[in-house]
Formats: sequence, C-alpha cells, structure tokens
Amino acid sequence: MDLMMLTQMQRRKEDDNDDSLFYSQPRFVHHLDDGFRSQLTSLYRERISSQSIILDLMSSWVSHLPEDMTYKRVIGHGLNQIELQRNPRLDSFWVQDLNKNKKLPLENHSIDYCLMVAAWQYLQYPEDIMAEIFRSLTHKGQIIVSFSNRAFWDKTPNIWRYGTDDDHIKYVEKVLSSQGFTDIHAIKQKGESRGINKFLGIEGDPFFSVMGMK
Ligand SMILES: C[S@@+](CC[C@H](N)C(=O)[O-])C[C@H]1O[C@@H](n2cnc3c(N)ncnc32)[C@H](O)[C@@H]1O
Repeated sequence: MDLMMLTQMQRRKEDDNDDSLFYSQPRFVHHLDDGFRSQLTSLYRERISSQSIILDLMSSWVSHLPEDMTYKRVIGHGLNQIELQRNPRLDSFWVQDLNKNKKLPLENHSIDYCLMVAAWQYLQYPEDIMAEIFRSLTHKGQIIVSFSNRAFWDKTPNIWRYGTDDDHIKYVEKVLSSQGFTDIHAIKQKGESRGINKFLGIEGDPFFSVMGMK
C-alpha cells in the first residue's frame, strides 16, 4: 500500500537540521513522568506475551517493559548509539534516521510487536514507516504507539505541532488505517500526579496510546 496523506507543509518542522545532530549527545533522562511510565508498563504487561519478538522503534536507554518479564527477543532502534547501548532490555539494536532512510532492515513477518513511545511525533513520513512496520509484523502482529502532550516542538512536523491531543490520536489512527492496520483503537487516560507534584496540584502527563493489528 502507498497512501501518502500529508502535504509538504504538514511534514515541515521548525528545526530542519539533521535529526542525528539533535540526538548526537546521549540524554539519560525520562521524557515522561513516572505516572505515565507506570501506565505504559501496565499496558505492556497486559498485552504482550513473553513469547513475543518486540521492536522498540525510536528507543533510548529505556523501553518501559515490565522488569520481571522476559521476552523471546527485544530489538531496539534509535538515533543515539550510546543510549541504546545502555538500554538493558535490548538484545540488539541499530541506528537509523527515519526521516532520511525509510526502509527498515527487518525481514518480512519477523516481529510480533512494534512499540513506539514519545516517538511518532518526530516522523515526517509516517506512512512509509508504517508500511515498513506492517510488512515486518507477523500475522496479527500489533503496534502500540504511546505519547503524551509534550515534545521537542521544534523537531515535530507541523501536523503534530499545531494539533490538539485528539487531533494527534486521529492522525495516528488514520495513518495506521491507510497502511492496512485493523482493530485500531485508542486509550486516553488522565495524568497521574504523584509525590511533590500531587502536593503542589501539578497535573501529571496525560497518557495516550493508539493500537492496531496486522
Ligand atoms: C523523546 S525520545 C523518546 C525515546 C524513548 N522512546 C523513550 O521512551 O524514552 C524520542 C526518540 O525518537 C528518536 N528519533 C527522533 N527523531 C528520529 C529520526 N529522525 N529517526 C529515528 N529516530 C528518531 C530518537 O531515538 C529519540 O530517542
């Protein structure tokens, strides 16, 4: 399938320098708060069996999988080699700028799950990347795309930068559907404020996850 949905203007981003420059220094930080991360890990625990081969696309030093679970294989991809080397969940990984090279070095039907966390928002050509993920997934393989309302805004294409949370969900759903995914559905959960933030009345990061099946 080759359904391109976005205009050039929607793909454009404020900082159009190579993404690999932006990610050249490792960042050993959490991009989302602990409430978000715990909702994500619970979702993975519910959905992903230990017999699975998992791809963590656009990963870093953490994959958010439950610590007490083991899987058949976890493959990582990202832009910073040092972060990926430090990620204890990964059995292997590779580095590739998806806005420059849209073909993935994966065999057909070779992964059971593709996970993306705080990641989709940086894709300029999500249709091509999802076509590749669809090709690489096994029959009934699944994608789980999770995100919140934060981002490195200068690095997000206009389609994301100028959209609301609901727009983001609809956009991910539409691209997945355009590339052949079925059983597409989304989870929307309020942020979970904890510790000092709860005391100060600061809201936690809202949790959004869009899922689809091959
Ligand atoms: C906010 S971080 C999230 C990382 C990780 N998923 C996590 O939960 O901590 C965004 C990630 O997207 C990846 N990324 C951004 N732009 C990219 C691009 N053009 N090609 C490939 N990966 C990219 C980088 O690896 C970066 O670590």
